[in-house]
Amino acid sequence: MITAVERADELYDVIRTCTLCALSQTRTNAVPGEGPLDAEVMCIGEAPGLNEDKEGKPFVGASGQFLSELLAAAGLTRESVYICNVLKCRPPSNRDPLPNEIEACSEYLDLQLDLVDPLVVITLGRFSMAKWFPKQAISRIHGNVKEVDGLFVVPMYHPAAALHQGNLRQVLIDDFARIPAILERARARRVEGQGKVATEPVQPTTAELAVDLTPRIEIPNPSAANGAPRDEPSPPGQQVPSPVEERLEPAKSVEQIRLFE
Ligand code: URA
Repeated sequence: MITAVERADELYDVIRTCTLCALSQTRTNAVPGEGPLDAEVMCIGEAPGLNEDKEGKPFVGASGQFLSELLAAAGLTRESVYICNVLKCRPPSNRDPLPNEIEACSEYLDLQLDLVDPLVVITLGRFSMAKWFPKQAISRIHGNVKEVDGLFVVPMYHPAAALHQGNLRQVLIDDFARIPAILERARARRVEGQGKVATEPVQPTTAELAVDLTPRIEIPNPSAANGAPRDEPSPPGQQVPSPVEERLEPAKSVEQIRLFE
């Protein structure tokens, strides 16, 4: 019987050699993700930046250092948490992920969620948040928790946002301080049997992955880069408004997703 580690290794191999979108042509290394496969907490960022692309590991730059501090503030070590991104390859000049790139990578993230089966997912930034909170504004819902089929999902600002906007630093620290209580609640839920079923999820084999992962989309030309490096603030006057943020509608009611305090 194939073990979780073998499944992860297979998946990481597929990701490292993936050519489903044009980012495969510009990456140095794909960044599948890392962490224990039995982690209770999974952090999902946006996409690798310059340092991550060089090293093939997630969150190794300045925002990664801040993420480690935030996790420590929540009583967690970085080593105890599974960390990955929506995109596995760096967009040129750290521009925002394109919809077809998110689509191309989405199956990898779903497989990682199946494999790790975390109790709590922390989304870091708009792009991972959109998987569970489409059309919600992060300014309205950050730090709140939503239970989705027994999975507790907590949207947070991206740590890099605090490097750009100093006032978000304390917001992130305060939001992460809520994680221990959320984790307790999620653990209790699973013990009660109301959470995700703690049985071995059905996993595709590499052969199935290879079949599944044939390109389903047109490969685009990467558009002109317009983002600042992920860990560095944009020069004044060159900040590019996010098209996604502009399209966000105000949340109907924060209370709808605030399950408990
Ligand atoms: N930002 C991300 O979203 N992910 C990383 O891995 C690094 C920076």
